[in-house]
Amino acid sequence: MSITQKIAVVGSGYMGGGIAQVLALAGAQVTIADVSAEIAAQNYERLIAEAGQFAEQGLFPAGAADTVRANVRPAASIEEAVQDADFIEEAVPEKIEIKHETLRRISAAARPDAIIGSNTSTINIAQMAPAVERPERFLGVHFSNPAPFIPGVELIPHEGTDAAVLPVVEQFVAATGKQTARVKDATGFVLNRLQYALFHEASQIVEEGIATADDIDTIVRTTFGFRLPFFGPFAIADMAGLDVYSFCYASLQTRWPERFATPASLKNLVDAGKFGTKTGAGYLQVPAERTPELVAYRNRAYVAMQKLLDELGPAPIHAAVEGPDAAATGASDSDANTSTPNSDAA
Ligand SMILES: NC(=O)c1ccc[n+]([C@@H]2O[C@H](COP(=O)([O-])OP(=O)(O)OC[C@H]3O[C@@H](n4cnc5c(N)ncnc54)[C@H](O)[C@@H]3O)[C@@H](O)[C@H]2O)c1
Repeated sequence: MSITQKIAVVGSGYMGGGIAQVLALAGAQVTIADVSAEIAAQNYERLIAEAGQFAEQGLFPAGAADTVRANVRPAASIEEAVQDADFIEEAVPEKIEIKHETLRRISAAARPDAIIGSNTSTINIAQMAPAVERPERFLGVHFSNPAPFIPGVELIPHEGTDAAVLPVVEQFVAATGKQTARVKDATGFVLNRLQYALFHEASQIVEEGIATADDIDTIVRTTFGFRLPFFGPFAIADMAGLDVYSFCYASLQTRWPERFATPASLKNLVDAGKFGTKTGAGYLQVPAERTPELVAYRNRAYVAMQKLLDELGPAPIHAAVEGPDAAATGASDSDANTSTPNSDAA
């Protein structure tokens, strides 16, 4: 299904550029704007060249560069980019003054019925909404880094967002092959709140000397992280057994009674005899008769995941060990990181 909406992306940098590529490849007509006509034109050329490289690497479909060239157009100004757009995505730097000023310009120049999204990672949508004329058409549309390849998009309406806006955005994001989830406008939304909760605990483990950063990364990748592409925390808890989770909480509470207090929702389910998939009821309603199917899927998924990892090989995080010249090349962790275009993984 091709996107019929006309789209404008304001801020055509790292994230905005990736978002423009993805939408253009799904058939949308996309105008991009930036601080000046020159920067927008340069970014347009960059997006075409990059789409060509991605196509050569088999990451974008053949002909992606031509599609991006044909479907994206650099505009001379924000006002010109947004004037005919049905949807406008703001992806300017994460500074409230820049967001406010840009949203003021966008909403003054856009059609009154145009929907306006922000790619903010961390700023509450309600904090930006006052800068938008007709804020009922405004919401967070948060793509993840790298936008061309990460499939999830958080949709964050603020309290005043018109409910009719959400299905429109859901429909065209789905047409890019990505998946949306709705999230309330609360600090950190969902992605960053969870990601930073894990990082917070992991860094405390390092600081306490319990395991090194390397060993923690190994454990995360090879144990519970290995499950995460297929199952979120609630499916995993339901499959493990909520009674088991309850025992584990009791054990964690021997050292951290408050930090690992048993969640009320878990206690209520366990008290009601709902232990997850084995009882056919838990956080998710998986019927007990589907358990064998679920177990078979899980096993296939994990074996397929291991095959994929074997095929890809390990991430080039460590100095290469093979070959006599590995040390002489000076390859190191920091070298690997300096070439990363953007390290904010939000
Ligand atoms: N980089 C990430 O990992 C990531 C992930 C998710 C969300 N985000 C969010 O996406 C947004 C953009 O981040 P980015 O990493 O793409 O930044 P970036 O610096 O790569 O891109 C920002 C672009 O906005 C342009 N710009 C600056 N001021 C402008 C203005 N007044 N009008 C028009 N354009 C202007 C810049 O020239 C640049 O091209 C931020 O809100 C950020 O928090 C970033």
